[in-house]
Amino acid sequence: MTKLGIRGGTTTNMKLLAWVDEIAKLCKPDSIHWCDGSQAEYDSLCQMMVESGTMIRLNEAKRPNSYLCRSDPGDVARVEDRTFICSKNKDDAGPTNNWVDPREMTATLNKLFDGCMRGRTLYVVPFSMGPLGSHIAHIGVELTDSPYVAVSMRIMARMGQQVLEVLGASGDFVPCIHSVGKPLAPGEKDVAWPCNPKNIYISHFPEERAIWSFGSGYGGNALLGKKCLALRIASIMARDEGWLAEHMLIVGVEDPQGRKTYVGAAFPSACGKTNFAMMVPPKGFDGWKIWTVGDDIAWIKPGADGRLYAINPEAGFFGVAPGTGASTNPNAIAAGRANSIFTNVALTDEGDVWWEGLTDEKPAHLIDWKGRDWTPDSSEPAAHPNSRFTCPVGQCPTVDPDYENPNGVPISAFIFGGRVSKNMPLVFQAFNWAHGVYLAATMGSEATAAAVGQAAMRRDPMAMLPFCGYNMADYFSHWLSIGRKLSNPPPIFRVNWFRKDANGKFIWPGFGENMRVLKWIVDRVHGRGYGVESPLGFMPRQEDLEWKGLSFPASKFYELMAVDRDSATAEARSHEEHFEKFFDRLPKEFIYERELLRSRLWRSPDVWELAHDELIS
Ligand code: OXD
Ligand code: MN
Repeated sequence: MTKLGIRGGTTTNMKLLAWVDEIAKLCKPDSIHWCDGSQAEYDSLCQMMVESGTMIRLNEAKRPNSYLCRSDPGDVARVEDRTFICSKNKDDAGPTNNWVDPREMTATLNKLFDGCMRGRTLYVVPFSMGPLGSHIAHIGVELTDSPYVAVSMRIMARMGQQVLEVLGASGDFVPCIHSVGKPLAPGEKDVAWPCNPKNIYISHFPEERAIWSFGSGYGGNALLGKKCLALRIASIMARDEGWLAEHMLIVGVEDPQGRKTYVGAAFPSACGKTNFAMMVPPKGFDGWKIWTVGDDIAWIKPGADGRLYAINPEAGFFGVAPGTGASTNPNAIAAGRANSIFTNVALTDEGDVWWEGLTDEKPAHLIDWKGRDWTPDSSEPAAHPNSRFTCPVGQCPTVDPDYENPNGVPISAFIFGGRVSKNMPLVFQAFNWAHGVYLAATMGSEATAAAVGQAAMRRDPMAMLPFCGYNMADYFSHWLSIGRKLSNPPPIFRVNWFRKDANGKFIWPGFGENMRVLKWIVDRVHGRGYGVESPLGFMPRQEDLEWKGLSFPASKFYELMAVDRDSATAEARSHEEHFEKFFDRLPKEFIYERELLRSRLWRSPDVWELAHDELIS
């Protein structure tokens, strides 16, 4: 049996001890370090990485206790085509996941992991996704040969001895194994960012609920609590246990009377989730406040009272840096003021960080994310477009007082939004739960196909396309079944901030104004928001939104809301193509919803003009 670690973390959990021993025998690290999660441990690992050249300590006066890392330029983002769901049965992974037979993947991984940690330390990282001991939380243990991962996990999750205490002698955990895939020969000098980008495998074993990740040290590929556990594996646990693991932010909206309404919102990656989660109410919204529970993932369980309760399983933000600035998201900037790790951003001459969009004015000189001199005349951006800040949720000025509540916060509405430039209204409400699930399941975002320069729609159901660990058709059925368990399922809304005018300019004035839409949603939740029925759903009229503090002509509002009947019919037809790949596993309710939508769109014009003539052209 492996001796207990270099320092800290101690456990009597035999399953954990035996597993660490087994993986150590396979990976053959030089030493094993059981993380205790203490500040002293964090500081000494960071100091070690400063000395090895992996980290740069930032100016203590400007950015206390913070570091910059530069990754290998070949290891900068999640790799969806190297992400695998290895269920026993191919159909259980479904048509939207990369499937490999678990026996084949195990054979591949056993070869890759054999001796992969030679010359390195294996860090045992016990972590809790969710408040310690919460009945909604789950424990994972990540074995990694990356000290960068170990310290990042201390920000992103509750990590260390306190987790081992909750785990106790017989508690269960999700085993997560990670290697950068770059063993060191005796005497070989390490590089600043070891990785093996040609051999990346991000593998999930649904039946064993196990995660094996090889070759990348970056983000969701390596911080296994986030996308791998809290979404892919958790979505499977949620299906089996009757709850939801979602790619959603959670915010509390407080009105001037002090009533707080929590909503969960799902937007695909890079559609402004972090900005929405930390929104500053615009002019005209005196007395309103937005409280942040989470910016990326929500675990949501039905409570005994028939309502849904959500926690943010994470303890940190891993936000995209470019575009995050003092004017666009001051709360994120404040959250990252100290105790943060920045990856692939630029370094200023004062020893602080910078990225595109942090300030309006570009610094005269920087060191870019590849470590080269940079000036405003340089042809490449100073920070990588997927560069990140990693900082504690607790440092966000708008953190919700109930963010650590082990029972979660009650969810009163769900919002789903893609990125669509045409024919998708700013906001509308589903008629009922099944219709809302259908709207979420058909959500799409336009991806520019660079080669042909055309906008193509990528369907990203519930913003979960890269994150659902099982057959997406079963996931739709699971959503429908959750609604049946609730006494009063939350209303579901579709939003779209990205509509463009004939000149290709965004019509909606920007993220800062989203509060106007959010207020209408909250009003609807409390039965005090007006709306009219359209073929797509309930829609606000111009007079139903709060416009104080913004001059926005009604004509523009209706340009945002209008739906052309032919395009809406074509869109409904394309739902058919989207659903085809799920064959007979598609819930029957969806066929029914699609036909209802088509018949609503086919009704004679005078019938739907009754709904609201400005809304439908
Ligand atoms: C993320 C993502 O990093 O969704 O949160 O890609
Ligand atoms: Mn995300």
